[in-house]
Amino acid sequence: MPADFPSVPVTRVVSGIQPTGNLHLGNLLGAILRWVKMQDDAPCFFFLADLHSLSEHVPAEVRRANIREMAAALIASGIDPAKSVLFVQSAVPAHAELCWLLNGTARMGWLSRMTQWKDKSGKNKEGASVALFDYPVLQAADILVYRPSHVPVGEDQKQHIELTRDIAIKFNTDCDVDLFIPPEPYIGGGTAARVMSLRDGTAKMSKSDPSDMSRINLIDDDDTIASKIRKARTDPDPLPSELEGLDGRPEARNLVGIMAAATDRSEQDVLRDFAGQGFGAFKPVLADALIALLAPIRSRLVELRSDAAALDAHLSDGAQRAREAAAPTLAAAKQALGLL
Ligand code: ADP
Ligand code: TRP
Repeated sequence: MPADFPSVPVTRVVSGIQPTGNLHLGNLLGAILRWVKMQDDAPCFFFLADLHSLSEHVPAEVRRANIREMAAALIASGIDPAKSVLFVQSAVPAHAELCWLLNGTARMGWLSRMTQWKDKSGKNKEGASVALFDYPVLQAADILVYRPSHVPVGEDQKQHIELTRDIAIKFNTDCDVDLFIPPEPYIGGGTAARVMSLRDGTAKMSKSDPSDMSRINLIDDDDTIASKIRKARTDPDPLPSELEGLDGRPEARNLVGIMAAATDRSEQDVLRDFAGQGFGAFKPVLADALIALLAPIRSRLVELRSDAAALDAHLSDGAQRAREAAAPTLAAAKQALGLL
């Protein structure tokens, strides 16, 4: 278990990811590999948050393709559908149903203060979808319905987990029950919390960056990976021996962070190996490490993509198991509210 693991025992894990196309190294190191690591610690429920993706309009065929692509990427990266419960959110109606029940508990003021809502709705609050506003309540339902101990998420999701705790506590208090367990966020855990663009160490690696050179895609071939790393922006100084030496050097810090996450080491360990060396020496080793990590994932992804029926069978089995796990909590919530 990683050193930064929270002290509360891990008894059940839940997390979701929005099905977006064009997966990249940031998604892998920041989200997916973190899940893979948790599978041996406790029973895990992992889902594709297709209902959350409704907060923005996407054509149906694109959404369908994205869901399958993300499911294939999760399995290719090491999520084992026999071990973890892997499913699509909309196939388990208890998520949407509990969301509605929790809408009675969540306060307008709480949701108005969510950073994601403020950022994404921007100056056009009138034109934003209700789903974007209510997004954190659905996320609370996703979590609370399984009564997990931990929710592995990126740094940007911390506020949503805190809101989930607030909703759980208020529901329990209002209804005088001990139903919902306020969950712990689990951030970090040996994988990179934030992978930055290869062209700008201050911007997040993202599928929406117009430059393809800024990111490494899960489907990039070995030569493309090597070339993107070779051309990645750096500075002329050698690598320092201590982490503080990376202060003010965002590109250097990013490449060291990527190397650490890709080879499952600490950044300090990476610096111990490369202190005093320049990027001419570092980059080829980094490219090799990334190719060693990504090539097997890519070939499994290509295989899984070609068999939609097998993929759908995994998801349908996962949904069945998730429905069974969610049913008692939903029934208890209805009872606590006096629904017949
Ligand atoms: P994008 O920023 O490319 O649009 P998404 O917002 O769809 O990516 O993110 C999907 C998942 O991947 C989320 O869990 C998010 O926290 C994680 N993620 C995305 N980009 C990064 C990154 N650059 N570093 C770390 N994690 C990331
Ligand atoms: N909002 C999360 C993200 O953008 C995805 C998500 C939806 C989620 N429901 C969840 C994460 C429940 C953890 C638990 O990354």
